Amino acid sequence: MGFVIAVDGPAASGKGTIAQQLARAYGLPCLDSGLLYRAVGVTLQRAGGDLDDAAQAEAAARAFDAGALDDDALRTRAAGEAASRVAVHPGVRRALRDFQMRFAEQEPGAVIDGRDIGTVIAPGAPAKLFVTASPEVRAERRWLQLTAKGEAASYDDILADIRLRDARDSGRADSPLAAAIDAVLLDTTEMSISQAADAARRIIETARARWEKSLKG
Ligand code: DC
Repeated sequence: MGFVIAVDGPAASGKGTIAQQLARAYGLPCLDSGLLYRAVGVTLQRAGGDLDDAAQAEAAARAFDAGALDDDALRTRAAGEAASRVAVHPGVRRALRDFQMRFAEQEPGAVIDGRDIGTVIAPGAPAKLFVTASPEVRAERRWLQLTAKGEAASYDDILADIRLRDARDSGRADSPLAAAIDAVLLDTTEMSISQAADAARRIIETARARWEKSLKG
């Protein structure tokens, strides 16, 4: 395995921005795994399917096409909600697993952000981050992001969405959102995004030095 960086955390924790900055810094390809679940949810909804029907959701995930990831419709609030509903079905998670694992197997490595990257997709990743922030701070960041893109949404509605998504992504024993035991926790509640990115970079530098040393034996 190359230098794989797993960046997990709850919705709107800043993990996407951090993952992109790390990818740029280390010259690695970057995958936002949430987009896969968003694509499955949006495709199923467009086809008039039922997001809560496990068989329909699994069929949509089996038909997943990476070419669909460039769609702006995947970045809306509704797409996030649809993603979180299809992501609870184990068949959907299984169907999307191979694509993510193959992405992680590229040389010289990859950065992947999501919920279960450090635990399920790349448990052997040499660098793992678990990024968190309070629900209120995450709601404020998401509100800023969505309003900048022209999507009207109230802060209170977004906070309610975030609490619901946290419960759906981490409420059960088999829920995807979990920090790997060897992940470094980064709480960005009191940080600006550039402070969070700097802190992430320092953590990953330490992991990289350890990884390089292990390669030399
Ligand atoms: O990170 P995001 O907001 O784009 O994720 C949307 C939803 O997709 C999230 O609520 C849960 C699901 N998801 C997941 O279950 N596993 C991942 N690795 C990434 C996202």
